[in-house]
Amino acid sequence: MSKLLKLSNVNLNYTIDNKSINILKNISFDVDYKETISVVGESGSGKTSLIMLIGGLEKVSSGNIFFRDSELSKMNEDEISEIRRKNIGIVFQSFYLIPNYTALENVSLSLEINKFDNPKAKAKEILDRFGLSNRFNNFPSQLSGGEQQRVAIARSVAMKPEIILADEPTGNLDSENTHKISNLLFNYIEDENASLIMVTHDNNLANLTKRKITIKDGVISENK
Ligand SMILES: Nc1ncnc2c1ncn2[C@@H]1O[C@H](COP(=O)(O)OP(=O)(O)O)[C@@H](O)[C@H]1O
Ligand SMILES: [Mg+2]
Repeated sequence: MSKLLKLSNVNLNYTIDNKSINILKNISFDVDYKETISVVGESGSGKTSLIMLIGGLEKVSSGNIFFRDSELSKMNEDEISEIRRKNIGIVFQSFYLIPNYTALENVSLSLEINKFDNPKAKAKEILDRFGLSNRFNNFPSQLSGGEQQRVAIARSVAMKPEIILADEPTGNLDSENTHKISNLLFNYIEDENASLIMVTHDNNLANLTKRKITIKDGVISENK
């Protein structure tokens, strides 16, 4: 069976002051179904860029990324967003909730867009599972940082994606909430047989994944 995800000689260049800078250099690795990987490295080393490429939010300058057997760079925008909506859940450090939507609406909206039956009921179910049954009707500004991130994770997993990409998911949280969020994330992954690629500065978090990839100056090495 093919791998869930395959990166082959991926390069990413950004043009800064009319100069092309090679941010990610010949990145190759596979991700199997149910595998968990942390990505660590200094600030500016290219971790977020890697997540953007895998999530189809940025295009490779050269090389290939395959999601199952489909090559992302050969797809048009509609095909990429379809994969992103149905198969890839993305969690960011800043939660990016819609401010004038309640917790429940933030989660049910993406289910509605994807034409799921009973989006409200499904959204309630996942929020309930994440301990937020008493927060359905609160707006993001009425929630703590930890609660906002739980809503954001609920939203990103409501479609049951096969892989979750998390970019410093606990970067804005205190240690108690970091602990809560990581428990929730790892329990979810285990229960639903999802894969995880998680960027983190937190060694305790990085130790929870099966594999650990380090990026230094745009080059990866694997050390676990
Ligand atoms: N859209 C962009 N245009 C130009 N340069 C960028 C862009 N996004 C990121 N960079 C640069 O790419 C490098 C890697 O950034 P990033 O992937 O955000 O690193 P990290 O997440 O590891 O801190 C940095 O030097 C950053 O300034
Ligand atoms: Mg980053």
